[in-house]
Amino acid sequence: PRNASRNADGVLEVAGVTADRLAQDYGTPLFVYDEADFRSRCADMQAAFGPYGRVHYASKAFLSVQVAKWVQSEGLSLDVCTGDELAIALHAGFPAERIALHGNNKSEAELDAALAAGVGHIILDSMIEIERLDRLAGERGVVAEVLVRVTPGVEAHTHEFISTAHEDQKFGFALAGGVAMNAIRAVFATANLRLVGLHSHIGSQIFEIDGFELAAQRVLSLLAEVVEEFGVDKTSQIRMLDLGGGLGIAYVPSDDPPPVKALADSLATIVERESARLGLPMPLIAVEPGRAIAGPAGITLYRVGTIKDVALDGKTVRRYVSVDGGMSDNIRTVLYDAEYDVRLASRESSASAVVCRVVGKHCESGDIVIRDCWLPEDLAPGDLLAVGATGAYCYSMSSRYNMAPRPAVVAVNEGTSRRILRRETVEDFLSLEVGNE
Ligand code: LLP
Repeated sequence: PRNASRNADGVLEVAGVTADRLAQDYGTPLFVYDEADFRSRCADMQAAFGPYGRVHYASKAFLSVQVAKWVQSEGLSLDVCTGDELAIALHAGFPAERIALHGNNKSEAELDAALAAGVGHIILDSMIEIERLDRLAGERGVVAEVLVRVTPGVEAHTHEFISTAHEDQKFGFALAGGVAMNAIRAVFATANLRLVGLHSHIGSQIFEIDGFELAAQRVLSLLAEVVEEFGVDKTSQIRMLDLGGGLGIAYVPSDDPPPVKALADSLATIVERESARLGLPMPLIAVEPGRAIAGPAGITLYRVGTIKDVALDGKTVRRYVSVDGGMSDNIRTVLYDAEYDVRLASRESSASAVVCRVVGKHCESGDIVIRDCWLPEDLAPGDLLAVGATGAYCYSMSSRYNMAPRPAVVAVNEGTSRRILRRETVEDFLSLEVGNE
């Protein structure tokens, strides 16, 4: 986080609160969010993309009532993927008209809840959904504003992108073969849906602009076809080009994501140039960053429990450092081979560094938090470790494997800390049990 440093005693602190204090007050494992960092990333996004359109925070990265309030007060919009994400946002008092609903399999109940709340728009993902939402909007006597999600044949991951004729995946309507065009025709044929934009999302943890550029070009070409077929008047309400999320962050020091402002300006330049070339008015550009806002703002604190040297061959050993969490609070290492940076948090050590593997406490040998890292040789049980950039997709993808209670989540700001989610307890789990009387 932006406000992390070491105090005079060498103890890691976030926003002026030491790791020791946090572990003592709230226990470990612990998610710690630097509130000012989270807010400043919202503000940076808003400053960079706001002038060109709209920023939706992708709540799947990490959502709680408090987080929804931060996002709201920084002036961003919100992207939700389920009725339950929507419910949390509404509970937080997030203005419905600034919420967009995503998903490839929204239920009737979810669609209806979105209509009832009056969300800003709904992103359509299948022909069945077009029919379904039209019917539900008709029943409520409302016109629903919608975006059509287009699969532009661009797939981007981390440092590269590939461009394919068709993408074998569940989301959206393919640009290829006129599938997306047919979906748009279907929307125009409904009585209760109003097409206000087109959407594409090309991937996540992206560092290069090329993929966004190609996606924007392709979606704008489709828009030009739509205008040609339906005429300028009937298409004048199509004002939004939503390019989805995906901006990458630094997990380890060698990661070098582009500055948000530069990315926004180059994207806007491309969209402006392409729109002009195609004779289209400049659309509003929407983006849906999740990771780039929440990721760097959060860290996880763990306490070291055991340390074991395992012989690999005659000469080498691998040092296994076991912490009190693991794949239940961070599945990303196991699932995606994700890399993280880890530091000794409770003190500074001048001992030489040794290669370690940080593992969790779960009954599974794949339960790895960090595959290879350097930690001081004198690391000992009781030491605190801080894993950086765990603010996105860690808590939100957590499980209670082995009945591990989900950790507490704490927000720190200007020298003070407060719980925003309490730690789960076994009583929470037992309260779900029924039929055992
Ligand atoms: N918009 C749409 C339509 C998305 O599908 C996603 C992410 C986002 C926005 C936000 O993307 P971001 O800016 O956070 O990259 N669980 C994975 C990431 C899955 C992302 C899925 N969709 C991970 O932990 O890396």
